[in-house]
Amino acid sequence: MTQPQARHVPVLFEEVMDFLRVRRGGRYVDCTLGLAGHAEGIVRQLGSAGKLIGFDRDPEALDLARARLASVCQELGSQAPQVTLIGEAFSRIAEHVRPGSIDGLLSDFGVSSLQFDEARRGFSFQADGPLDMRMDTRSGPTAEQVVNETSERELANLIYEYGEERRSRTVARAIVRGRPVTSTAQLARMVASAVPPMKHLHPATRTFQALRIFVNQELNEIRALLEAAPSLLKPSARLVVISFHSLEDRIAKDSFREGAQQGVWKVLTRKPVTASEEEIHRNPRSRSAKLRAAERQ
Ligand SMILES: C[S@@+](CC[C@H](N)C(=O)[O-])C[C@H]1O[C@@H](n2cnc3c(N)ncnc32)[C@H](O)[C@@H]1O
Repeated sequence: MTQPQARHVPVLFEEVMDFLRVRRGGRYVDCTLGLAGHAEGIVRQLGSAGKLIGFDRDPEALDLARARLASVCQELGSQAPQVTLIGEAFSRIAEHVRPGSIDGLLSDFGVSSLQFDEARRGFSFQADGPLDMRMDTRSGPTAEQVVNETSERELANLIYEYGEERRSRTVARAIVRGRPVTSTAQLARMVASAVPPMKHLHPATRTFQALRIFVNQELNEIRALLEAAPSLLKPSARLVVISFHSLEDRIAKDSFREGAQQGVWKVLTRKPVTASEEEIHRNPRSRSAKLRAAERQ
């Protein structure tokens, strides 16, 4: 069996490292460790006086990231930086990081390939599993609770808002009629039978995206992080964010634009940076990645 680490490829790796401009002895935060692909790149450049603080609210991801970074630090020996890992949501960053103390911050939003590919996590309609979708498996309602306990109207609204699904009312009606819903395959079938087939998308794609964003409060998390970031970074420090769909990217774009108007950010990416054809070929999930970077003024 392939090891998760071997399967996982960090997106836009070179671009992230270019924009972060990691300097030896600096302090950096990776808000979304995942399988620590980007974090490993940072750790390798920090030197013994440097520090990486990493967040992931998924306990399984945190364990894997810890193991990977421990082996990198072992390899680096006396050149290994200090590494502190925190198993909490990145919206709580200000509780863990002192104001004005950070040289660079990275956030690679969304789910990892490990979460997505693991049927028991319930993120994918391509494999049958329980309807969970929580990144933090220790708390919060599961997608199953949301689809079974939310009113038809509320369900339609959240599928519209977070999935940008125009047929949200039809989808919500089909779900409510088919309750109880307990598995990803059952939900995918219900949605597929309610809406006509689409050319390039599985008909359940948008509904699954909506539920995932709602269950994990992903957009509120991003807003809270982008609000906290300016006060945590030193002057000239860099912020790099990668988003995977338009709702995430819009929040980053607006926040950078407002920050630039207020003299908080110098935006380094007039347009978002996307993956090369070669990277998309190697790693099809990089197709929708958009990187934006800014420098603290
Ligand atoms: C796309 S993956 C990151 C991959 C990582 N850059 C790498 O190189 O392996 C996103 C990770 O961030 C975590 N995550 C997403 N939103 C989070 C949040 N609000 N707080 C903490 N961790 C979060 C997820 O659990 C997932 O493991």
